[in-house]
Formats: sequence, C-alpha cells, structure tokens
Amino acid sequence: MVQLHDKTFEPYLSEFEIREIVKDMAYKMGVLKNEKPLFIIILKGSFIFASDLVKALDFDVELCFMQLNSYDGTKSSGKIKEIMGISKQIKDRTLVVVEDIIDTGNTLEYLNQHLLAEQPKKIYYSSLLLKASVYKKTIPIDFVGKEITNEFVVGYGLDYKELGRTLTQIYKLKIS
Ligand code: IMP
Ligand code: MG
Repeated sequence: MVQLHDKTFEPYLSEFEIREIVKDMAYKMGVLKNEKPLFIIILKGSFIFASDLVKALDFDVELCFMQLNSYDGTKSSGKIKEIMGISKQIKDRTLVVVEDIIDTGNTLEYLNQHLLAEQPKKIYYSSLLLKASVYKKTIPIDFVGKEITNEFVVGYGLDYKELGRTLTQIYKLKIS
C-alpha cells in the first residue's frame, strides 16, 4: 500500500508488467522506422514512460516536449492549460504524441486541434494506458499499452496532486 496525501493506493501493474507493455509498444512502433518521426512527449506524466519507450525503440528519433494540464486531484477538469509549448517546426513531419494515460480524451482533442493547425504530415497517438470506457472522442489511438477500467492510478510518472510520480510500479486508488 502507498499513502499519498489523503488517499491510499494498492498495487496494480508490476514493474515486470510495465516493462512487457513498453517493449510491445516499442516493437509495434517499428512500422514508423522510415518516417523519421518526431516524438512529442506530454509532460509531466509521460516522462518516465517516454524515457523507457524511446530506449526500447530499435531506431533513433527526435524528441520534443509539451506540458499540458487538465487534471484536478482525481478528476478531469475538462479545461486544458498549456504550460509549455513545442519549439520545433512540425510542418510536414510525422508526429508521435506520447501520453501517459487517456481518460476523457479532452487533452488529446485539444492537442489534435493544436497540432493539426501546424500542418504536420501525419499524427500518431500513443498512450501507455487508456480508460476505454471513459474515452468519448473519435480520434483513434494508434498505440495503446493497456486498456484499464475507470480507476484512478498513480506511479511510473502518474501523480495524485503531484505525488507518486517516482513510484516504479503503477498503483490504483483503494476504495475503502
Ligand atoms: P483527459 O484529458 O481526461 O483524457 O485526461 C488526461 C490527463 O489527465 C492525463 O494525461 C493525466 O495527466 C491525467 N489523468 C487522467 N487519468 C489519470 C489517472 O488515473 N491518474 C493520474 N492522472 C490521470
Ligand atoms: Mg498528463
């Protein structure tokens, strides 16, 4: 069990399970090898996942970072705040957006509109986790690590009010 602020979390995905998921995603991303993709890492949540993912690829990629914020405690606020934008030229490039988790898809929709305006060649979306029953948007997620039920999870980059990111496993909120 892990205590973060006022909430208790229980083990959900082990380091081994996470490693297998990441390896599998990197393998599937092999189809992008000849596209010279630019990986857009969405901070802060994706930073640990993304670092393992790009190391597991068997080709070199360019990286850039964007910081977005939509979550308020354990709920999606629906309002996206852009804290840090991308500095790279993305016109005519193949982009791979790397997300930690997709919940309502509000963040993804915001990103999609924002990135399309810059006329990239193609945008692929990837996420370690997808809350499939909550996701309401039509934008396809090209690479999903694992679909999970509607539970609040922390660890491996994911936070609850900024804590829990450095946990090496993924934990879920314990319902008492
Ligand atoms: P969405 O905009 O509702 O799809 O939420 C996506 C963002 O909210 C993610 O990038 C996370 O930062 C955060 N988020 C969503 N679900 C969780 C969760 O279970 N734990 C921690 N953060 C989450
Ligand atoms: Mg996030």
